[in-house]
Amino acid sequence: MIYEKKNKIYLIGFMGSGKSTLGKKLARLLHYDFSDLDQYIESTAAASISNIFDLQGEDYFRKLESKCLNDFNNEAYKVIATGGGTPCFHDNMNLMLSQGCCVYIRMPEGALLERLRKAAPKRPLLAGKDENALRTYIHDTLKAREETYLKSHIVIDGVSLSMPSLAQILKSKMMERAH
Ligand code: S3P
Repeated sequence: MIYEKKNKIYLIGFMGSGKSTLGKKLARLLHYDFSDLDQYIESTAAASISNIFDLQGEDYFRKLESKCLNDFNNEAYKVIATGGGTPCFHDNMNLMLSQGCCVYIRMPEGALLERLRKAAPKRPLLAGKDENALRTYIHDTLKAREETYLKSHIVIDGVSLSMPSLAQILKSKMMERAH
């Protein structure tokens, strides 16, 4: 089975697509460990993502993000929720494709806007954006990133299902691919 052979699952998708929530449920279902890349970065740097962006800038964050992603290379039986930008910098997508099973949680722009409206102040790339600016940012950034996201082994629709059934469907899709 693909997920047993590679025994690592990377969840990929835009900010607000539910990677961490789904990742925890999926890990429980598969009896894997769960790691959230953003949280791992924060503990490595002993600083919040917002502080890293503010004090050291995005380029520094992207280098640290890539280094932290590579720290999982020798780990097994793990579900990793990546950051929305992770696949799009420093050849991270190719690394993840070779290291495990990549699952893109696809969400339409409208659903992302709904979810991110409340969460925007806490996210450095969204902070201070009004409704129109947020809508434009989501549209432009998703357009630029989706080609990379779509290289994932599996693409799932993140809106039409509840989280528990989504995790269940993901599990059977991974088994289908493996046979
Ligand atoms: C980012 C997404 C965030 C975090 C950082 C940058 C992005 O992660 O890594 O703020 O570039 O889309 P989430 O997708 O977990 O919010």
